[in-house]
Amino acid sequence: MSEFITDAAAAAAWRDELDRAGKKLVFTNGCFDVLHVGHVRYLREARALGDAMLVAVNADASVRELKGPGRPINNAADRAEVLCGLESVDKVVVFEEKRVTGLIESIRPHIYAKGGDYAVDELPREEVAAAETAGSDIRILSLVPGKSTTDTLAKLRGDRKLRIAVLGSGNGSNFEAIAEAVEKQQLLAEIRLVISDVADAQILERARGRGIPAMHLESEAEIVEQLRRAEVDLVALAGFMRIVKTPMLEAFPERILNVHPSLLPDFPGLNAPKQAIEAGAAETGCTVHVVDAEIDRGPILGQARVPIEAGDTPEILHQRIKIEEHRLFPKIIGEYGARFVQ
Ligand code: GRF
Repeated sequence: MSEFITDAAAAAAWRDELDRAGKKLVFTNGCFDVLHVGHVRYLREARALGDAMLVAVNADASVRELKGPGRPINNAADRAEVLCGLESVDKVVVFEEKRVTGLIESIRPHIYAKGGDYAVDELPREEVAAAETAGSDIRILSLVPGKSTTDTLAKLRGDRKLRIAVLGSGNGSNFEAIAEAVEKQQLLAEIRLVISDVADAQILERARGRGIPAMHLESEAEIVEQLRRAEVDLVALAGFMRIVKTPMLEAFPERILNVHPSLLPDFPGLNAPKQAIEAGAAETGCTVHVVDAEIDRGPILGQARVPIEAGDTPEILHQRIKIEEHRLFPKIIGEYGARFVQ
């Protein structure tokens, strides 16, 4: 057995030794069945919260209970040894119980780090109580989107699909086009969630009609939280009339796409078809681009052209543009999104 693999009593003695030296012990736990980059990053961040780190690894029976009969893929001794190979991990303890409450009580780590998107009040009550009694500071670290053991296993089975959310404020014809492309398997994706900032938006009705979870949310913080919970890889803005701000841009960097009814950089902003007609343009079209802090200015991923005809009103022209949007947006989502499922 590796000298880094310890038991609860030895871990408690180690914690006291660190404490006497004025150092802080970070404690975290998990199954760590198939190690991936999400684990490595989160463990590195957790380790940086203190001076040494103890990782508690679930024993095989508790992994089976938590994750189902096919798990663990690797037994506890192997999982513990692999973890010991990481620079951020100082010691590992294997534990039999489903929860780490007992370990927290006996080891009294200075910091208890959790991976996930919970708020402290969503953690199991007895864990929070144990941490409070032990004087452990609970810290929650966000997980890397799209990097989980479940995803890794799905990739191995060949059935990892791109997980998307669609945000819109109105009609939702682009959502419908994306959903149809998914249904016909032209787009290998799963629409996990539709969000609208408008309570009675047609896009929500359309989503519910297809059995896709649909939510009306107005605060960006809440939107980000729901997108995270749904573990989406990519966010598609389809007629979403709000300006996307820092919280969402930071949570999903380069993972938000927008469709706009003009050939950007021409005619950004509102009423793009009307702007094109009034400018006397011979043609316009639509653009799919990555969303960044500048409105309608992010990197362009694809465009389709639409001629402007004599007698076009903004409405008639917009309808013809939408026909092209409905082809272009699902196609670009699939092409661009492929990088997030690799
Ligand atoms: C589309 O024209 C899109 O380019 C723009 O808003 C419109 C949304 O239409 N951003 P719909 O709600 O998808 O029908």
